[in-house]
Amino acid sequence: MRTHFCGLIDEALTGQSVTLCGWTDVARNLGGVCFIDLRDHHGIVQVLVEPEQVEVFKVAASLGYEDVLQVEGVVRARHSVNDKLKSGQVEVVATKITILNKAEPLPFHAHENAGEETRLKYRYLDLRRPEMQRMMRTRTRLVAALRQWLDARDFQDIETPILTKATPEGARDFLVPARMHPGEFYALPQSPQLFKQILMVAGFDRYYQIARCFRDEALRADRQLEFTQLDMEFAFVAERDVQDTTEDMIRSVFREVMQVELAPEFPRLTWVEAMRRFGSDKPDLRNPLELVDVAELVKDSEFKVFTDWASNPEGRIAALRIPGGALLSRKQIDDLGAHAAKYGAKGLAYIKLGGNGEVTSPIAKFFAEAAFAALIKATGLQNGDLVFFGAGKYNTVSDFMGALRLKVGKDMKLVEDRWAPLWVTDFPMFEYDDEAQRYVALHHPFTAPAVDDIDDLRANARTAVSRGYDMVLNGNEIGGGSIRIHRPDMQSAVFELLGIGAEEAEAKFGFLLDALKYGAPPHGGIAFGIDRIAALMAGTESIRDVIAFPKTTTAQCLMTGAPSPIPDAQLAEVHVSVRPKEK
Ligand code: AMO
Ligand code: AMP
Repeated sequence: MRTHFCGLIDEALTGQSVTLCGWTDVARNLGGVCFIDLRDHHGIVQVLVEPEQVEVFKVAASLGYEDVLQVEGVVRARHSVNDKLKSGQVEVVATKITILNKAEPLPFHAHENAGEETRLKYRYLDLRRPEMQRMMRTRTRLVAALRQWLDARDFQDIETPILTKATPEGARDFLVPARMHPGEFYALPQSPQLFKQILMVAGFDRYYQIARCFRDEALRADRQLEFTQLDMEFAFVAERDVQDTTEDMIRSVFREVMQVELAPEFPRLTWVEAMRRFGSDKPDLRNPLELVDVAELVKDSEFKVFTDWASNPEGRIAALRIPGGALLSRKQIDDLGAHAAKYGAKGLAYIKLGGNGEVTSPIAKFFAEAAFAALIKATGLQNGDLVFFGAGKYNTVSDFMGALRLKVGKDMKLVEDRWAPLWVTDFPMFEYDDEAQRYVALHHPFTAPAVDDIDDLRANARTAVSRGYDMVLNGNEIGGGSIRIHRPDMQSAVFELLGIGAEEAEAKFGFLLDALKYGAPPHGGIAFGIDRIAALMAGTESIRDVIAFPKTTTAQCLMTGAPSPIPDAQLAEVHVSVRPKEK
C-alpha cells in the first residue's frame, strides 16, 4: 500500500514519487492551499494540496482528525523549513488522496492533555500519540537488547507454567477454578521462582525467561497486578557471580538502548548502611542528603520524646541537615511535617540557624546550652541551614526521614542529573510481624541465610542476615534476587521458623523439598522488573506508560471493562458460586 514511511521522508527523496499511508494529524484549509500533517509510527510529513488539483483538493478540504489516508505525491523542498520534524526540510505535493477510513469525532484529541481515565478507556488513541509510541519503542529495544545479551551467553530461555500452584512472593494469589477438579484451583504465578530453582536441579545451569508475573496487591505508579520480569537463575554460583554477570548485562543494555555508560563498578551498600544513611532499602544516590544518628547527643536533654527513644533498643533518633534550609518558611516546614506524618512521623522537630546564626527551634528549650551547641556541631549545621529530627521506632523513623529526604531533595532541586545504580546486600533474613506474632521472610522463603548452621540460624533468627540482594537505580528497586537454599534440611528449618509446619510445607512445597533431596546444586538468581527499567529509560514516572494495556490504580482495565461479572451458568461449569458482597 505504501512505498515509504511518513516520518522518514527526507531531502534524499526530492523529486521522487511516493505513496504514503497514515493518519490525519491535522488538516488545514488555508483557502488557497490545503496542508495535511500525515502521521505514521515513524513521525509526520507535511502534505501540500494545490487548488489546481480540483478533485484532490475537494477530498483534502473534507478531512477531519485521524482520518486514515493513502497519499500519492512528489517530494519537494519546503519553503519554510520545520526544524521540529525529521522530515521538516521537505513536503509531499499530493497527486491523489484516498480516504481509507473516516474517523468519527474523537473523544479526546491527541494534542491535548486528556485525563488518564479517558486516555485508558480509548487506549488505542492514546497509544497513537508520538510520545507513547516513543516510550513503547524504548521498551521493545530494552527487551531486544536483553535477549541478545542473554542468547550470546548460553542462557536457555525456558517457559514455566501460568496455571500452577501458589509461589509465595508476599502478595495474594490470583486463583483460577479448575473445571475438571471441582472445588480445586490453579494459582497464577507471583513469579517463576520454584520452577526456575527446579530447572537448576534439572541440570540447565543458566536459565532466563521474560516472564509475566501476577500479584494481587495494591497498585502504585511502580506496581501493576501483572508485570514482566526478566527472570534468571544460575547453578553453582555465589552472590558475586550473579551480581557481576547481571551488572554487566545492565551496563550493556544501557549502552545499547540509551548510549549511557553506567559506573564500571556499581557501589555496594549493606541493608544496614542503606537504612542508616538514607532511611531506605532502595536509596536514590543522586540525592546528596544523608541521615545522621543523634540518639547519643540528645539522650540527656529534657525532651521526653527524645530521651525515651534514645534509651529504647528498638528506637532511632535521626537528623537530616538541609544546606540552605533556613530559607524554608514556617508553612513549608509544616508541609514537610505533614509529609513525614504520612509515613508515620508523630512530629518533626527542627533547628534553624539564620544567616547571622540566630536560632529558631521548638526544641532548643529542652537543651542545656553546651549540649545544644554540641548537637549543632555534630549535625554539621552552618549558618543558613536547617536540620530536622525524627524520633521513634527504628523502621518508622527510617521510613519517614527517608521520605523527607526524597521530598526535600526534589523540592529544593538537589537531585543530580545522572544515573545512580547500586547493589543493596545483606538483607535481614526475617522480619518480625508484630500483629501476627511471627516471622515473615523479607525476600521469599527460599533465600539462603548467611549462616550454614541450622542451630545457629534458629538461635539468632531475629538478627539473621540473608544472602539476598537488590539492584537499585535512581531510587527504584529494579531487581531482586538471592542465593537459594539447596539443602532440604535447611529449607525445612526455614519453613518452620516462618511458622509453616511440616504438614503444610509438605502440602504446599513437597515437590520442592523432594527436588532438593535428589542432588540439587548450589544455585542462585535474580529477577529484574522490565516495566520499571523501561519506565526509567523512557523517562516516565509510571510503569503504565510502558505497558500497552495497563490497569488503573483501582485494578480495572477501562478499555475492556475487566473485571466483570460472569453468568451463573458459566460459574456453575467451574463449580463456583459467588457470595454476596460483604457490607
Ligand atoms: P521480587 O519480588 O523482588 O523477586 O521481584 C523482582 C522484581 O520485579 C519487579 N516487581 C514489580 N514490577 C511491577 N509491578 C509489581 N507489582 C512488581 N513486583 C515486583 C521489581 C522487583 O525488583 N522470585 C524473585 C526473584 C528472585 O529471587 O530471583 C522475585 O520475584 O523490579
Ligand atoms: P512538643 O513539645 O510536643 O510540641 O514537641 C516539640 C517539637 O518536637 C515539635 O516540633 C514536634 O513536632 C517535635 N516532635 C514531637 N514528637 C517528635 C518525634 N517523635 N520525632 C521528632 N520530632 C518530634
